[in-house]
Amino acid sequence: MKKILITGGAGFIGSHVVRRFVNNYPEYQIINLDKLTYAGNLLNLKDVEDRPNYKFIKGDIVDAPFIDKLFAEEQIDSVIHLAAESHVDRSISNPVEFVMTNVVGTVNLLNAARKQWSNNYAAHRFYHVSTDEVYGSLGEDGLFTETTSYDPHSPYSASKASSDHFVRSYHDTYGIDTVISNCSNNYGSHHFPEKLIPLSINNIKNNKSIPVYGKGENIRDWLWVEDHARAIDVIYHKAASGSTYNVGGHNEWKNIDLIRLLCKIMDEKLGREPGTSAKLITYVTDRAGHDLRYAIDSTKLQNDLGWKPSLQFEEGLEKTVEWYLHNDEWLQSVTSGSYQSYYEEQYGKR
Ligand code: NAD
Ligand code: DAU
Repeated sequence: MKKILITGGAGFIGSHVVRRFVNNYPEYQIINLDKLTYAGNLLNLKDVEDRPNYKFIKGDIVDAPFIDKLFAEEQIDSVIHLAAESHVDRSISNPVEFVMTNVVGTVNLLNAARKQWSNNYAAHRFYHVSTDEVYGSLGEDGLFTETTSYDPHSPYSASKASSDHFVRSYHDTYGIDTVISNCSNNYGSHHFPEKLIPLSINNIKNNKSIPVYGKGENIRDWLWVEDHARAIDVIYHKAASGSTYNVGGHNEWKNIDLIRLLCKIMDEKLGREPGTSAKLITYVTDRAGHDLRYAIDSTKLQNDLGWKPSLQFEEGLEKTVEWYLHNDEWLQSVTSGSYQSYYEEQYGKR
C-alpha cells in the first residue's frame, strides 16, 4: 500500500485534503502528522478517524530526530505538506514561531525525505502546499502567475517564501521529485475563527463588532476549500516533477463588500431585520504591512491539468454560514480557552 504522509491534516485545509484522500483512495494508507496546535483539531476528522486506510500521529515537524524516525519506521512513500503557522496577524506578534515551523519544519521534512528516498528520488513525491502571499501585493491591475517574482511582506509570507525556495533547492540539488502550489484565500467549513470570514460569522452570531482593518479596501481572491483540495489531488497525481501551479478562484472581493454580503446572508439565516448585522461593522487600525490586493491567474492549472473552480462565491458563502450555524459545538470548542486571550490581545476588549 502506498503510504502518503499528510502534514497539518488536522487544520482547516489539511482536514479537507485528508478526508478527500481517505474517501477517494482506499488503496493508499494516509498518515496524518499534526502537532495539534491551537489551529489543529481532531474533531475536524471525526467522520474518517476509524477508516482502515487512515492513521493519526501527533508530532512536531520542528523535531528533526522524530521526523527522521517517522520516515524510517513508517516507510513513507510521499508527502503532502500543509503543516504551518498560517495567520498573518500572529506572525506580526511572533515571527520566530513562523521561522521554526514554516522554514525549519519544512527543511526537516525535506532532509528526512532525502535520507529515506536516496535509492530512487524520482519514485517519491514531495508536494509543498504554499500561498499566493509569497508574490507580495498587486496594484489595481494584473494577476499573479507562476513566474511572478517573490516579494513577501509579512513574516508569514517571508517564511512561506523561504520554505518554497528550500523545496525547489532540494529538487535542483538532490533530484527529489518536488511540486509546489501557491493558492489564494480559502473559505469553507472548519476554518479557524481568527481569519476574516469565520471570525465575522462568529461575531455577527454573538452580536459583537466586526473588526474591519483600515478602510476595508484590501482585495482577496476567495476559493472554496474543497476546490483547493481537489486541485491538490490533481496536482499530486499529474504535475511534472519540479513544477509549480497557481490555484485561485477568479473571485476578487474588497473586504468591506465581502463583509456586507456576509451580513446580508447572516440577517436572512438568523431571521434578523435586513441591515441589523451591518451595524456591527467597525473600522479598526490597519494591519501592519497590509498587502493591498491578491489575485491569481490559474490558467496553467486549467490548461495543463483540467482543473477549475466549481462553486460560485455567493453559494459557497451561504453554505459556509449554514455550516457554522449548524456546528455550534465545534465553534464553542475552538473559541474557548486560549482563543479568548488571543482575541483580547489582537482586538482589545470589545
Ligand atoms: P491551519 O492553521 O488551519 O492549520 C495548520 C495545521 O498545521 C494545524 O492542524 C496545526 O496543528 C498544524 N501544525 C502547526 N505547526 C505544526 C508543527 N510544528 N508540526 C506539525 N503540525 C503543525 O492552516 P490552513 O489554513 O489549513 O493552511 C494549511 C496550509 O495551506 C499552510 O501551509 C498554509 O500556508 C497554506 N495555505 C493556506 C491558505 C488559506 O487560505 N488558509 C491559502 C493558501 C495556502
Ligand atoms: O492568500 C492566501 C492566504 O490567505 C493564506 O496563505 C493565509 O494562510 C490565510 O490566513 C489568508 O491570509 P489573509 O491575511 O489574506 O487572511 P485573513 O482572513 O487574515 O484576512 C483577510 C483580509 O481581511 C485581509 O485583507 C485582512 C482583513 N481582516 C482580517 C481580519 C482577521 C480584517 O479586516 N479584519 C480582521 O479581523
